[in-house]
Amino acid sequence: MNTDIKINKPRPVAINKNQKTFQKETEVKPIIETLAAGETVLINEYYSDGILLLKEIHKYLRRKLPNKTLREQREYREAYHTFSNLILLEVKDQLLLVKKAPSIGWLEKFYPDNKHFALSFPEVQGLNSSWQWYHNGINIPVLRNKLRPYYGVYFPTRFEHLILFDNWLKYYDGPKKTAIDVGVGCGVLSLQMVLHGFQKVFATDTNPNAIVGLAEFMGTTKLSRKIELDVGHLFAAWKKETELIVFNPPWLPATRDVDGMDAAIYYDNTLFPEFFAEAKKRLSPDGKLVVIFSNLALITKVTTSHPIAIELAEGNRFQLEKRYTKKVSAASTKTKRDQHWRATEEVELWVLKHN
Ligand SMILES: C[S@@+](CC[C@H](N)C(=O)[O-])C[C@H]1O[C@@H](n2cnc3c(N)ncnc32)[C@H](O)[C@@H]1O
Repeated sequence: MNTDIKINKPRPVAINKNQKTFQKETEVKPIIETLAAGETVLINEYYSDGILLLKEIHKYLRRKLPNKTLREQREYREAYHTFSNLILLEVKDQLLLVKKAPSIGWLEKFYPDNKHFALSFPEVQGLNSSWQWYHNGINIPVLRNKLRPYYGVYFPTRFEHLILFDNWLKYYDGPKKTAIDVGVGCGVLSLQMVLHGFQKVFATDTNPNAIVGLAEFMGTTKLSRKIELDVGHLFAAWKKETELIVFNPPWLPATRDVDGMDAAIYYDNTLFPEFFAEAKKRLSPDGKLVVIFSNLALITKVTTSHPIAIELAEGNRFQLEKRYTKKVSAASTKTKRDQHWRATEEVELWVLKHN
Protein backbone atom coordinates (compact mmCIF):
# COMPACT_ATOMS: atom_id res chain seq x y z
CA MET A 1 0.00 0.00 0.00
CA ASN A 2 1.12 3.54 -0.72
CA THR A 3 2.14 4.91 2.69
CA ASP A 4 2.11 8.62 1.75
CA ILE A 5 -1.66 8.85 1.48
CA LYS A 6 -2.94 12.21 2.71
CA ILE A 7 -6.03 11.90 4.86
CA ASN A 8 -8.84 14.43 5.13
CA LYS A 9 -8.73 16.25 8.46
CA PRO A 10 -9.77 19.68 9.72
CA ARG A 11 -7.33 22.36 8.60
CA PRO A 12 -5.50 24.10 11.48
CA VAL A 13 -6.00 27.87 11.74
CA ALA A 14 -3.13 30.14 12.84
CA ILE A 15 -3.54 31.78 16.23
CA ASN A 16 -4.58 35.42 16.13
CA LYS A 17 -3.85 37.22 19.39
CA ASN A 18 -6.19 40.13 18.70
CA GLN A 19 -9.45 38.37 18.08
CA LYS A 20 -12.65 38.72 20.09
CA THR A 21 -13.43 36.14 22.73
CA PHE A 22 -16.74 34.83 24.02
CA GLN A 23 -17.65 33.64 27.52
CA LYS A 24 -21.00 33.04 29.19
CA GLU A 25 -21.21 36.63 30.45
CA THR A 26 -20.20 38.29 27.16
CA GLU A 27 -22.78 40.52 25.51
CA VAL A 28 -24.02 38.51 22.53
CA LYS A 29 -24.94 41.25 20.03
CA PRO A 30 -21.41 42.49 19.21
CA ILE A 31 -20.21 38.91 18.97
CA ILE A 32 -22.89 38.06 16.42
CA GLU A 33 -21.95 41.24 14.52
CA THR A 34 -18.34 40.09 14.48
CA LEU A 35 -19.37 36.72 13.05
CA ALA A 36 -21.68 38.42 10.53
CA ALA A 37 -18.69 40.48 9.37
CA GLY A 38 -16.85 37.21 8.67
CA GLU A 39 -14.44 37.52 11.59
CA THR A 40 -13.57 34.73 13.98
CA VAL A 41 -14.43 34.55 17.69
CA LEU A 42 -12.41 32.51 20.17
CA ILE A 43 -13.93 30.40 22.94
CA ASN A 44 -11.34 30.68 25.71
CA GLU A 45 -12.95 29.68 28.99
CA TYR A 46 -15.36 26.73 28.96
CA TYR A 47 -16.11 24.28 26.14
CA SER A 48 -19.81 24.72 26.86
CA ASP A 49 -19.54 28.43 25.95
CA GLY A 50 -19.12 27.27 22.34
CA ILE A 51 -22.39 25.35 22.54
CA LEU A 52 -24.04 28.43 24.02
CA LEU A 53 -22.82 30.58 21.14
CA LEU A 54 -24.10 28.04 18.59
CA LYS A 55 -27.55 28.42 20.17
CA GLU A 56 -27.27 32.21 19.95
CA ILE A 57 -26.45 31.89 16.24
CA HIS A 58 -29.62 29.86 15.74
CA LYS A 59 -31.66 32.48 17.63
CA TYR A 60 -30.22 35.26 15.50
CA LEU A 61 -30.69 33.44 12.18
CA ARG A 62 -34.25 32.43 13.05
CA ARG A 63 -35.10 36.09 13.54
CA LYS A 64 -33.33 37.13 10.36
CA LEU A 65 -34.01 34.41 7.79
CA PRO A 66 -37.18 32.68 6.64
CA ASN A 67 -36.79 28.92 6.94
CA LYS A 68 -39.78 27.37 5.20
CA THR A 69 -39.27 26.46 1.56
CA LEU A 70 -36.55 23.98 0.61
CA ARG A 71 -34.49 26.83 -0.79
CA GLU A 72 -34.87 28.88 2.37
CA GLN A 73 -33.90 25.89 4.47
CA ARG A 74 -30.76 25.42 2.39
CA GLU A 75 -29.87 29.10 2.74
CA TYR A 76 -30.45 28.90 6.49
CA ARG A 77 -28.18 25.85 6.75
CA GLU A 78 -25.48 27.56 4.70
CA ALA A 79 -25.62 30.70 6.85
CA TYR A 80 -25.46 28.60 10.02
CA HIS A 81 -22.50 26.70 8.60
CA THR A 82 -20.64 29.93 7.78
CA PHE A 83 -21.32 31.54 11.17
CA SER A 84 -20.59 28.47 13.29
CA ASN A 85 -17.30 27.75 11.53
CA LEU A 86 -16.00 31.15 12.62
CA ILE A 87 -16.09 30.03 16.26
CA LEU A 88 -12.62 28.81 17.19
CA LEU A 89 -11.01 26.73 19.91
CA GLU A 90 -7.29 26.72 20.66
CA VAL A 91 -5.29 23.51 20.65
CA LYS A 92 -2.02 23.49 22.59
CA ASP A 93 0.25 20.46 22.80
CA GLN A 94 -2.52 18.36 21.23
CA LEU A 95 -5.09 19.30 23.90
CA LEU A 96 -8.02 21.72 23.78
CA LEU A 97 -7.17 24.75 25.92
CA VAL A 98 -10.66 25.43 27.31
CA LYS A 99 -11.93 23.97 30.60
CA LYS A 100 -14.23 20.94 30.69
CA ALA A 101 -13.25 20.00 27.16
CA PRO A 102 -13.53 16.43 25.88
CA SER A 103 -10.26 14.63 25.30
CA ILE A 104 -9.91 13.81 21.63
CA GLY A 105 -7.22 11.35 20.62
CA TRP A 106 -7.32 12.44 16.96
CA LEU A 107 -5.52 15.68 17.90
CA GLU A 108 -2.37 13.77 18.80
CA LYS A 109 -2.65 11.51 15.78
CA PHE A 110 -3.40 14.22 13.22
CA TYR A 111 -1.25 17.13 14.39
CA PRO A 112 1.82 15.59 16.06
CA ASP A 113 4.15 18.44 15.10
CA ASN A 114 1.81 21.41 15.41
CA LYS A 115 2.09 22.67 18.99
CA HIS A 116 -0.33 25.59 18.94
CA PHE A 117 -3.18 26.29 16.54
CA ALA A 118 -6.95 26.68 16.39
CA LEU A 119 -9.79 24.63 14.93
CA SER A 120 -13.37 25.60 14.30
CA PHE A 121 -15.88 24.58 16.95
CA PRO A 122 -18.06 22.39 14.66
CA GLU A 123 -14.94 20.61 13.42
CA VAL A 124 -13.94 19.91 17.01
CA GLN A 125 -17.43 18.56 17.68
CA GLY A 126 -17.04 16.28 14.64
CA LEU A 127 -13.63 15.09 15.81
CA ASN A 128 -15.04 14.46 19.26
CA SER A 129 -18.00 12.33 18.22
CA SER A 130 -15.84 10.40 15.76
CA TRP A 131 -13.29 9.77 18.53
CA GLN A 132 -16.02 8.33 20.79
CA TRP A 133 -17.02 5.84 18.07
CA TYR A 134 -13.41 4.96 17.33
CA HIS A 135 -12.31 4.72 20.95
CA ASN A 136 -15.29 2.68 22.18
CA GLY A 137 -15.60 0.65 18.97
CA ILE A 138 -18.88 -0.72 17.66
CA ASN A 139 -20.22 -4.24 17.87
CA ILE A 140 -21.39 -5.59 14.53
CA PRO A 141 -23.47 -8.77 14.71
CA VAL A 142 -21.63 -10.54 11.86
CA LEU A 143 -18.10 -9.86 13.14
CA ARG A 144 -16.21 -11.34 16.07
CA ASN A 145 -14.34 -8.20 17.01
CA LYS A 146 -15.40 -4.61 17.39
CA LEU A 147 -15.05 -2.30 14.42
CA ARG A 148 -13.19 0.98 14.96
CA PRO A 149 -14.46 3.52 12.43
CA TYR A 150 -11.73 5.98 11.50
CA TYR A 151 -12.35 9.73 11.32
CA GLY A 152 -14.27 10.70 8.18
CA VAL A 153 -15.22 7.15 7.17
CA TYR A 154 -18.73 5.79 6.65
CA PHE A 155 -19.71 3.01 9.04
CA PRO A 156 -22.88 0.94 9.22
CA THR A 157 -25.43 1.78 11.91
CA ARG A 158 -27.99 -0.79 10.79
CA PHE A 159 -27.03 -4.30 9.96
CA GLU A 160 -29.72 -6.03 7.88
CA HIS A 161 -27.65 -5.84 4.68
CA LEU A 162 -24.64 -7.32 6.47
CA ILE A 163 -26.78 -10.20 7.69
CA LEU A 164 -28.01 -10.81 4.12
CA PHE A 165 -24.40 -10.93 2.91
CA ASP A 166 -23.38 -13.21 5.77
CA ASN A 167 -26.17 -15.67 4.95
CA TRP A 168 -25.16 -15.65 1.31
CA LEU A 169 -21.52 -16.31 2.23
CA LYS A 170 -22.58 -19.26 4.39
CA TYR A 171 -24.01 -21.05 1.37
CA TYR A 172 -21.48 -19.88 -1.21
CA ASP A 173 -19.60 -22.98 -2.35
CA GLY A 174 -17.40 -21.56 -5.11
CA PRO A 175 -13.63 -21.00 -4.94
CA LYS A 176 -12.35 -18.71 -2.20
CA LYS A 177 -8.94 -17.71 -3.45
CA THR A 178 -9.53 -14.02 -4.11
CA ALA A 179 -12.26 -11.39 -3.93
CA ILE A 180 -12.46 -7.67 -4.62
CA ASP A 181 -14.31 -5.28 -2.28
CA VAL A 182 -15.04 -1.98 -4.02
CA GLY A 183 -15.58 0.92 -1.58
CA VAL A 184 -14.29 -0.88 1.49
CA GLY A 185 -15.23 1.84 4.04
CA CYS A 186 -14.53 0.47 7.52
CA GLY A 187 -13.82 -2.93 6.03
CA VAL A 188 -16.84 -4.83 7.28
CA LEU A 189 -17.55 -6.76 4.03
CA SER A 190 -13.86 -7.65 3.60
CA LEU A 191 -13.72 -8.89 7.20
CA GLN A 192 -16.83 -10.98 6.60
CA MET A 193 -15.22 -12.58 3.53
CA VAL A 194 -12.03 -13.37 5.46
CA LEU A 195 -14.11 -14.90 8.28
CA HIS A 196 -15.82 -17.08 5.67
CA GLY A 197 -12.51 -18.38 4.39
CA PHE A 198 -11.47 -16.12 1.53
CA GLN A 199 -7.70 -16.23 1.30
CA LYS A 200 -7.18 -12.79 -0.11
CA VAL A 201 -9.35 -9.70 -0.52
CA PHE A 202 -8.28 -6.75 -2.66
CA ALA A 203 -10.09 -3.66 -1.43
CA THR A 204 -10.36 -0.06 -2.63
CA ASP A 205 -11.90 3.23 -1.64
CA THR A 206 -11.75 6.76 -3.04
CA ASN A 207 -11.75 8.05 0.52
CA PRO A 208 -8.12 8.11 1.77
CA ASN A 209 -9.31 8.00 5.40
CA ALA A 210 -10.93 4.60 4.79
CA ILE A 211 -7.70 3.15 3.45
CA VAL A 212 -5.43 4.67 6.11
CA GLY A 213 -7.89 3.79 8.88
CA LEU A 214 -8.21 0.17 7.84
CA ALA A 215 -4.44 -0.21 7.38
CA GLU A 216 -3.94 1.10 10.90
CA PHE A 217 -6.70 -1.15 12.27
CA MET A 218 -5.05 -4.24 10.78
CA GLY A 219 -1.52 -3.20 11.75
CA THR A 220 0.88 -6.04 11.10
CA THR A 221 -1.56 -8.78 12.13
CA LYS A 222 -2.38 -11.76 9.93
CA LEU A 223 -5.31 -9.77 8.61
CA SER A 224 -3.00 -7.28 6.92
CA ARG A 225 -1.75 -10.08 4.69
CA LYS A 226 -5.29 -11.12 3.81
CA ILE A 227 -6.73 -7.72 2.96
CA GLU A 228 -4.75 -5.59 0.50
CA LEU A 229 -5.71 -1.97 0.13
CA ASP A 230 -5.46 0.65 -2.58
CA VAL A 231 -6.86 4.15 -2.59
CA GLY A 232 -8.62 5.03 -5.84
CA HIS A 233 -11.68 4.99 -8.05
CA LEU A 234 -13.64 1.72 -8.37
CA PHE A 235 -11.08 -1.09 -8.86
CA ALA A 236 -8.03 1.22 -8.54
CA ALA A 237 -4.88 -0.93 -8.94
CA TRP A 238 -6.64 -4.31 -9.02
CA LYS A 239 -6.69 -5.60 -12.58
CA LYS A 240 -6.62 -9.39 -12.19
CA GLU A 241 -9.60 -11.70 -12.55
CA THR A 242 -11.34 -12.76 -9.38
CA GLU A 243 -14.14 -15.14 -8.46
CA LEU A 244 -16.08 -12.67 -6.31
CA ILE A 245 -16.63 -8.94 -6.61
CA VAL A 246 -18.57 -7.15 -3.88
CA PHE A 247 -19.82 -3.57 -3.84
CA ASN A 248 -22.00 -1.83 -1.28
CA PRO A 249 -22.38 1.41 -3.24
CA PRO A 250 -24.01 4.67 -2.24
CA TRP A 251 -27.78 4.20 -2.24
CA LEU A 252 -29.04 7.65 -3.24
CA PRO A 253 -28.69 9.60 -6.51
CA ALA A 254 -26.71 12.82 -6.12
CA THR A 255 -28.32 16.18 -6.77
CA ARG A 256 -25.03 18.09 -6.65
CA ASP A 257 -21.28 17.39 -6.82
CA VAL A 258 -20.22 14.57 -4.56
CA ASP A 259 -17.07 14.69 -2.46
CA GLY A 260 -15.62 13.45 0.84
CA MET A 261 -18.03 11.58 3.11
CA ASP A 262 -20.92 12.29 0.70
CA ALA A 263 -19.42 9.73 -1.66
CA ALA A 264 -20.54 7.00 0.75
CA ILE A 265 -24.17 8.07 0.37
CA TYR A 266 -24.71 9.65 -3.06
CA TYR A 267 -23.86 8.27 -6.51
CA ASP A 268 -23.49 10.22 -9.73
CA ASN A 269 -24.69 9.18 -13.22
CA THR A 270 -21.43 7.55 -14.21
CA LEU A 271 -20.75 5.38 -11.15
CA PHE A 272 -22.87 2.32 -11.96
CA PRO A 273 -22.26 2.04 -15.75
CA GLU A 274 -18.52 2.38 -15.13
CA PHE A 275 -18.58 -0.09 -12.27
CA PHE A 276 -20.37 -2.77 -14.30
CA ALA A 277 -18.11 -2.24 -17.33
CA GLU A 278 -14.98 -2.63 -15.18
CA ALA A 279 -16.44 -5.53 -13.20
CA LYS A 280 -17.13 -7.36 -16.47
CA LYS A 281 -13.39 -7.35 -17.25
CA ARG A 282 -12.38 -8.69 -13.84
CA LEU A 283 -14.96 -11.31 -12.99
CA SER A 284 -13.77 -14.86 -13.71
CA PRO A 285 -16.00 -16.90 -16.08
CA ASP A 286 -17.96 -18.56 -13.24
CA GLY A 287 -17.53 -15.66 -10.82
CA LYS A 288 -20.23 -13.91 -8.81
CA LEU A 289 -20.87 -10.20 -8.65
CA VAL A 290 -22.63 -9.20 -5.43
CA VAL A 291 -24.13 -5.73 -5.14
CA ILE A 292 -25.81 -4.56 -1.96
CA PHE A 293 -28.56 -2.00 -2.40
CA SER A 294 -31.78 -0.69 -0.90
CA ASN A 295 -35.17 0.55 -2.03
CA LEU A 296 -34.64 3.73 0.01
CA ALA A 297 -34.37 6.07 -2.99
CA LEU A 298 -37.46 4.53 -4.61
CA ILE A 299 -39.73 4.60 -1.57
CA THR A 300 -38.74 8.15 -0.64
CA LYS A 301 -39.46 9.07 -4.28
CA VAL A 302 -36.02 10.57 -4.85
CA THR A 303 -35.90 8.65 -8.13
CA THR A 304 -37.94 6.17 -10.12
CA SER A 305 -34.99 4.24 -11.49
CA HIS A 306 -32.88 1.50 -9.98
CA PRO A 307 -29.27 1.35 -11.23
CA ILE A 308 -28.95 -2.43 -10.92
CA ALA A 309 -32.28 -3.13 -12.61
CA ILE A 310 -31.20 -0.78 -15.43
CA GLU A 311 -27.90 -2.62 -15.84
CA LEU A 312 -29.68 -5.97 -16.08
CA ALA A 313 -32.20 -4.64 -18.60
CA GLU A 314 -29.82 -2.65 -20.79
CA GLY A 315 -26.20 -3.48 -19.95
CA ASN A 316 -25.96 -6.75 -21.85
CA ARG A 317 -23.16 -7.82 -19.52
CA PHE A 318 -24.67 -9.69 -16.59
CA GLN A 319 -27.69 -11.76 -15.71
CA LEU A 320 -29.44 -12.14 -12.40
CA GLU A 321 -28.70 -15.29 -10.47
CA LYS A 322 -30.70 -14.37 -7.41
CA ARG A 323 -31.96 -11.36 -5.51
CA TYR A 324 -32.46 -11.52 -1.75
CA THR A 325 -34.25 -8.89 0.33
CA LYS A 326 -34.67 -8.20 4.00
CA LYS A 327 -36.96 -5.75 5.75
CA VAL A 328 -35.23 -3.03 7.70
CA SER A 329 -36.41 -2.81 11.29
CA ALA A 330 -38.81 0.05 12.02
CA ALA A 331 -37.40 3.32 13.29
CA SER A 332 -37.68 4.19 16.95
CA THR A 333 -40.98 5.77 18.02
CA LYS A 334 -39.20 9.09 18.41
CA THR A 335 -38.56 9.44 14.69
CA LYS A 336 -41.45 7.37 13.33
CA ARG A 337 -43.81 10.26 12.71
CA ASP A 338 -42.04 11.69 9.69
CA GLN A 339 -40.57 8.39 8.51
CA HIS A 340 -43.72 6.42 7.64
CA TRP A 341 -41.96 5.08 4.52
CA ARG A 342 -39.65 3.10 6.76
CA ALA A 343 -42.37 0.46 7.04
CA THR A 344 -41.56 -0.62 3.49
CA GLU A 345 -37.80 -0.15 3.57
CA GLU A 346 -35.83 -3.17 2.42
CA VAL A 347 -32.21 -3.93 1.76
CA GLU A 348 -31.32 -5.96 -1.32
CA LEU A 349 -28.52 -8.35 -2.17
CA TRP A 350 -28.16 -8.83 -5.92
CA VAL A 351 -26.12 -11.79 -7.12
CA LEU A 352 -25.14 -11.45 -10.79
CA LYS A 353 -23.12 -13.61 -13.15
CA HIS A 354 -21.82 -13.23 -16.71
CA ASN A 355 -24.38 -13.34 -19.51
C1 LIG B 1 -22.13 2.73 1.46
S1 LIG B 1 -20.40 2.82 1.76
C2 LIG B 1 -20.03 1.10 2.06
C3 LIG B 1 -18.78 0.87 2.87
C4 LIG B 1 -18.53 -0.59 3.27
N1 LIG B 1 -18.24 -1.42 2.11
C5 LIG B 1 -19.71 -1.14 4.04
O1 LIG B 1 -20.43 -1.97 3.47
O2 LIG B 1 -19.92 -0.73 5.19
C6 LIG B 1 -19.75 3.14 0.14
C7 LIG B 1 -18.24 3.26 0.12
O3 LIG B 1 -17.82 3.37 -1.26
C8 LIG B 1 -16.85 4.38 -1.38
N2 LIG B 1 -16.91 4.88 -2.77
C9 LIG B 1 -17.80 5.73 -3.32
N3 LIG B 1 -17.53 5.92 -4.63
C10 LIG B 1 -16.44 5.16 -4.90
C11 LIG B 1 -15.67 4.93 -6.08
N4 LIG B 1 -15.97 5.53 -7.23
N5 LIG B 1 -14.62 4.08 -6.02
C12 LIG B 1 -14.29 3.46 -4.84
N6 LIG B 1 -14.98 3.66 -3.70
C13 LIG B 1 -16.04 4.48 -3.72
C14 LIG B 1 -17.22 5.40 -0.33
O4 LIG B 1 -16.13 6.22 0.04
C15 LIG B 1 -17.70 4.49 0.83
O5 LIG B 1 -16.64 4.11 1.67
